[in-house]
Amino acid sequence: MTPPDIRPGTDNDGPGLIALIWSCWSRYPGIRMDVDREMPELHALASYYADQGGMLWIAEGRDGPVGMIAARPAADGAWEICRVYVAPALHGGGLGHRLLDVAEAFAMAGGAERLVLWSDTRFDRAHGFYEKRSYVRQGAIRVLNDISNSLEYGYAKPVNGAMLLDIAAATAASRRLGEILATCVEAGAPMAFLPPLAPDRAAAFYRRTASEIGSGKRLLVAAWRNAVLVGSGTLDLDMPENQRHRAEMQMVLVHPPTRRLGIGRMIVRTLEQQAAASGRTLLTLNTRADDAGESLFRVLGWQEAGRIPGYAVDAGGVAHATLFFWKALA
Ligand SMILES: CC(C)(COP(=O)(O)OP(=O)(O)OC[C@H]1O[C@@H](n2cnc3c(N)ncnc32)[C@H](O)[C@@H]1OP(=O)(O)O)[C@@H](O)C(=O)NCCC(=O)NCCS
Repeated sequence: MTPPDIRPGTDNDGPGLIALIWSCWSRYPGIRMDVDREMPELHALASYYADQGGMLWIAEGRDGPVGMIAARPAADGAWEICRVYVAPALHGGGLGHRLLDVAEAFAMAGGAERLVLWSDTRFDRAHGFYEKRSYVRQGAIRVLNDISNSLEYGYAKPVNGAMLLDIAAATAASRRLGEILATCVEAGAPMAFLPPLAPDRAAAFYRRTASEIGSGKRLLVAAWRNAVLVGSGTLDLDMPENQRHRAEMQMVLVHPPTRRLGIGRMIVRTLEQQAAASGRTLLTLNTRADDAGESLFRVLGWQEAGRIPGYAVDAGGVAHATLFFWKALA
């Protein structure tokens, strides 16, 4: 089957869009639709978004719309992605990705610094999709007070930048972070794992990290490039009672295709700022000698404390020295 064309929406698409949205909503119990009372804008949706500086797109099937998406500018440099619907018969076929590619590219060309969206808490399939697309949960649940008693999760991602993840955001990011970890381990990164690292095991590592964030034992910073989550790093805050001024930096890693673009530097700098904001004045870490990590931390002003030969083995069983570094925070 040829993939449906994606074209700009028009106000004449109203009836087809209403049918498309209902084909998605009717799969979930408790969701009701009253267009005239709650969504009159569907009768002229292209104008509705154009009037706000945004745009609507339609994926055209043989008998009408089989997909839709819209984007509009929001506050503080953000753009909102809205009305993401794909006909249930086409779920899993890649149309959602194509629609989101179009809307995100439009928002980024319009100067978006952040992309945000809202998703009904019942739409579990959509949550997995947004998380695959590097969105993470953000903020409180929104109560719509509508006839469907809708509650919505907020999702967001920076286009380029790093941010601290709370427990909900870290849980949402765990699959993507696990993919990055598994790829880095496969490429020989000196982390605590040896290849092959199954993606599920790597994701489980970040779900545990999320629960440690919830109990205040750890901080996690993630970094995005061109709206794709490409790296992360953690700070272990769970120190003995005579070292509560110290934290240990761990698991700083960047997806191999986006290395040497300043992302590792951005993650370490953000972790340093977060450590200072948490009242920590001394940071420590260890990393394999003669490797990219050593160069990164030296260039960022970390001091070498010493070297232990034969500290950890690689996938071939070869033992490598590890360097211990420290940095005092002003
Ligand atoms: C270490 C790592 C995080 C660096 O990420 P990155 O995004 O490529 O780093 P940056 O682009 O921010 O590099 C900043 C500086 O560090 C130094 N650097 C980083 N990687 C380097 C390398 N492979 N060789 C030499 N210098 C390097 C350079 O001075 C670089 O600046 P430059 O590119 O302007 O010359 C990445 O290589 C990685 O994920 N490695 C596997 C995991 C790991 O070893 N982590 C460290 C232990 S926790």
